[in-house]
Amino acid sequence: MTTYNIAIDGPAGAGKSTIAKKAAAKLGFIYVDTGAMYRAMALYCLREGIDRNDESAVEAACERMTVSLRYQGGAQQVWLNGEDVSGLIRTEEVGAMTSAISVYAPVRQKLLKLQRQLAAKENVIMDGRDIGTCVLPGAQTKIYLTANSHVRALRRFKELKEKGQMCNLEEIEQDIIERDHRDMNRDIAPLKQAEDAVFLDSSDMTIDQVVDAILMTAKERGLEENR
Ligand code: DC
Repeated sequence: MTTYNIAIDGPAGAGKSTIAKKAAAKLGFIYVDTGAMYRAMALYCLREGIDRNDESAVEAACERMTVSLRYQGGAQQVWLNGEDVSGLIRTEEVGAMTSAISVYAPVRQKLLKLQRQLAAKENVIMDGRDIGTCVLPGAQTKIYLTANSHVRALRRFKELKEKGQMCNLEEIEQDIIERDHRDMNRDIAPLKQAEDAVFLDSSDMTIDQVVDAILMTAKERGLEENR
């Protein structure tokens, strides 16, 4: 049986993971958060004190790490060299390092195969920056999800506050703008809307409205119920 794949791409803070998780639960699909895989690699580089601008040091570090995904009660865990690092990768420091090292080919190459294998085996909703354009060009449904940078910064701010982390709204918005710029302008697999992706701006939409729009698109694009 061929699998049904839904690709969701978009900038940081657009709501991709919240929405993809909810849609995946409704469909009984597996949710694959590719950002978490890149974040695990960035955590390794931070721990090793690697300079983000030193491409050969990052490349050498790629040889020393193994990243894998596991699922517990439907929730994705990301493992780095035999350690569950899911709870350690959500800081702004890791986010900034991730955006910096994900421009390098060996970093992307390492995760591409794993991502494609998952999508070939299971019905997935996979989110990231290059899913519809590079990782799963044949995905039956592709969504480009965005929101304006102020709304996205506010969402991140609230998220961090809830976790009790110190944060500053202006700094978060500035960081988001820089991260978008780097993710959209890198040479390899930049963030951009795939030609056959549906564009959704979630600035003034509720989570449920976005989830419904994605499910509707998937139905229009051949997803049968009770698959
Ligand atoms: O979605 P996120 O905030 O967890 O992603 C963190 C960084 O990882 C993002 O700034 C760019 C990189 N990334 C990528 O290059 N390709 C992906 N498919 C997912 C994330």
